[in-house]
Amino acid sequence: MIQTVQPVTSLKGTLQLPSDKSISHRSALFAAISSGKSTIENYSSAADPQSTLACLEQLGVQIKKEGSTVQIQGVGRKGLKTPESPLDCGNSGTTMRLLSGIVAGAGVECELIGDESLSARTMTRIIDPLKMMGCTISAREGKYAPIKVGKHKGVKEIRFPLPIASAQLKSSVLLAGLFGEKPTEVIENTLSRDHTERLLDLKSEPYGEGKIIRSSRQDKIPEQTYRVPGDFSAASFWMVGAAIHQDSEIVLKGVGMNPSRKAALLILKEMGALIEISNEKMEGKEPVADLTITSSELSSIDLDPKLIPNCIDELPILMVAMSFAKGTSTITGAEELRHKETDRLSAMFDILTAAGVNAELESDGMIIHGDPEFIPEGAEYTTYHDHRMAMASAILASVSLDNSTVKDAECTAISYPDFWSDLTELSV
Ligand code: S3P
Repeated sequence: MIQTVQPVTSLKGTLQLPSDKSISHRSALFAAISSGKSTIENYSSAADPQSTLACLEQLGVQIKKEGSTVQIQGVGRKGLKTPESPLDCGNSGTTMRLLSGIVAGAGVECELIGDESLSARTMTRIIDPLKMMGCTISAREGKYAPIKVGKHKGVKEIRFPLPIASAQLKSSVLLAGLFGEKPTEVIENTLSRDHTERLLDLKSEPYGEGKIIRSSRQDKIPEQTYRVPGDFSAASFWMVGAAIHQDSEIVLKGVGMNPSRKAALLILKEMGALIEISNEKMEGKEPVADLTITSSELSSIDLDPKLIPNCIDELPILMVAMSFAKGTSTITGAEELRHKETDRLSAMFDILTAAGVNAELESDGMIIHGDPEFIPEGAEYTTYHDHRMAMASAILASVSLDNSTVKDAECTAISYPDFWSDLTELSV
């Protein structure tokens, strides 16, 4: 689908955001291997978390859906069944990497497949440690999906300093660790999102500049009832949208405010974005709040590379914000962006330059010469079937001089099924 986006003067209104993708995945995966019944409210209807549910059903887990509430009857660590056909993870790296940790740890014979984009993303990062733990796991060319998992003779504990600051890798190893007699230890120097540790109540303690997290068979996997917060990553598109449009105000309700996820909020505030936080409370084990964002005068920033893991999914839309900021902004240490649903550094460079932004692409980042007076040209945006590329293009297009088009616009449904209708609703 090609979406035409008309320029709008302002963005105004109140939104209930889609449910958090990362937490939705985990809520279902962990409920499935608990021994009781969990009720998850506000489970994401987006394609990726729905792939997780479908895979779990194939593994014999009973899931009842009523609107956005899902009830999951846990089968315990030993209850997953060998599926009759490959587990289709679709476009979802989180499904493939976290579920691999579980099925490899449990020793369930199965195959995990994905779409074209997921089948081109490296899985070596999880396969290596899972093999070290004694799991039976292999991949096409040792690297790519399909991933094959088999029975094993027991999970061995490992002490694993994370070679990349990746929550998917951390979670995959910790989940396999849940099947071992003695604690597997994951050492994290740069903190990445901590939903796995929080939701599973895993033991962790400070270690050097980061922390050490442990998991083993001794950890009880709790059945739980809670509401999944609104997705901070989805919120970031509207934060930037409101900030760069004139005369705008957007209120975002019930946004997940996990400290390991909200670096983009701090970065935008440092750039001068007017963001107010209200109604702070806990939803289950995660903090949430309402955010009010108004039109802002932005200035440039040199992004601290240490913050990259905490704003990895928000970097594309932060690049849009930087395009409208006074001065030159720099992003370094963001090579991981090249390993997402598409190479997001290259893709964003193409998108920004199509709009007329003065940017320089680096091997691990970008230099963006911003201009508060900048009005993008109408452009034809290519999304590379990547939801975050489509949404970043749409925000740029909404502040442009002429109409723009966004190719393969339906890919926003990977994380944000109502994105286009929310854009229409906010457009003034
Ligand atoms: C995710 C972790 C991040 C993020 C992805 C979701 C998660 O990936 O980009 O969208 O839910 O654990 P990496 O762990 O590969 O950085």
